[in-house]
Amino acid sequence: MILAKRMANLGTETAFEVLARAKQLEAEGRDIIHLEIGEPDFDTPQHIIDAAYQAMNDGWTHYGPSAGDPEFRAVIADHISTSRGYLVSPDNVVVVPGGKPIIYWGITALVDPGDEVIYPNPGFPIYESMINFVGATPVPAPLREVNEFRFDVDELASLVTPKTKMIIINSPQNPTGGVLSKDDLEAIARLAIENDIWIMSDEPYEQVLYEGEHHSIAALDGMAERTILLDCFSKTFAMTGWRLGYGVMPAELAAAIAKLQTNCTSCVTSFVQRAGIAALQGPMDETRAMVAEFKRRRDVVVDGLNDIPGISCLRPLGAFYVFPNVTETGFDSRELAKKILEEANVAVLSGTAFGEYGHGYLRLSYANSVENIQEALRRIKEFLT
Ligand SMILES: Cc1ncc(COP(=O)(O)O)c(C=O)c1O
Repeated sequence: MILAKRMANLGTETAFEVLARAKQLEAEGRDIIHLEIGEPDFDTPQHIIDAAYQAMNDGWTHYGPSAGDPEFRAVIADHISTSRGYLVSPDNVVVVPGGKPIIYWGITALVDPGDEVIYPNPGFPIYESMINFVGATPVPAPLREVNEFRFDVDELASLVTPKTKMIIINSPQNPTGGVLSKDDLEAIARLAIENDIWIMSDEPYEQVLYEGEHHSIAALDGMAERTILLDCFSKTFAMTGWRLGYGVMPAELAAAIAKLQTNCTSCVTSFVQRAGIAALQGPMDETRAMVAEFKRRRDVVVDGLNDIPGISCLRPLGAFYVFPNVTETGFDSRELAKKILEEANVAVLSGTAFGEYGHGYLRLSYANSVENIQEALRRIKEFLT
């Protein structure tokens, strides 16, 4: 079969490939511990599920406006105004199926072939994939362990050229758990304003923060007009399978992205949007309990990894991932991830699944029980000693 040439530019998410291999091993009778996939192991809170049932029974089973249900857009606008601290109106909001479509459609709407887009590396693999897909040039900005996996803002500035159209930031970060400081965000904002650059601020882990408070670059002076803020319900409300997310951006751009949605999906499932209203307006205790549990697990996994010869691991401030340095084990990270799955029955990802600067690292998701995490650590330690 001869696919269109553009398909050669499309990347993928290795987590789904490793998950498939792990499932295959399970089907052969092996007992695999899953630390590869980035989704909360908690259930969606019951009041959100009830709201979806209610909405279906109330007839929310038809097409709706492409930009999203007006009431939902207003609730999101209020939520962002309060949580991020800048004024957002409903026409700044587009509701989409999950977080990913904002990455794809935001880049599609703003970036021309030949433009450059700076993105975090290691980082969520979909950024580089989408930049390549639209024919633009991906420019990796390294996140280094010595800098606690934050950008070196001077290095970031040195990557800017007259062709730079967009900088993508993500804090708290997947895969490292790194968090950008307010000073980092201010320096990036100055860079964006001085060089007329768009920012895509990917913030799905806004609630999964263990110290301090979340800052959004969109709230800084002069930034709302050049920022696409992305958030979704996947992590905060354990709703990965519902496919619900949104972007917040200047109204003219929101209208363009709604038009892309008209062309692709028409609109997001109507009763799922009603469940989204219940999520944002309902109690947050289950989210808070989930984050407290993630913090407990973070400490178990970090302490356990640091106890394994050849591995050292920073204690991340957010998200539910750790990114241990495995260079001292003597294994290449790809080979190590493969061996840990095939020989120790623990599914983890190589840091290289997140870009070239992931060499020498693994990524473990600790969205699994403390008991399973401890058993996984035992198996990895046994394998390496
Ligand atoms: C940094 C980051 N951005 C976006 C997404 C996409 O979220 P969704 O599953 O809602 O499309 C993820 C999911 O893992 C992520 O880690």
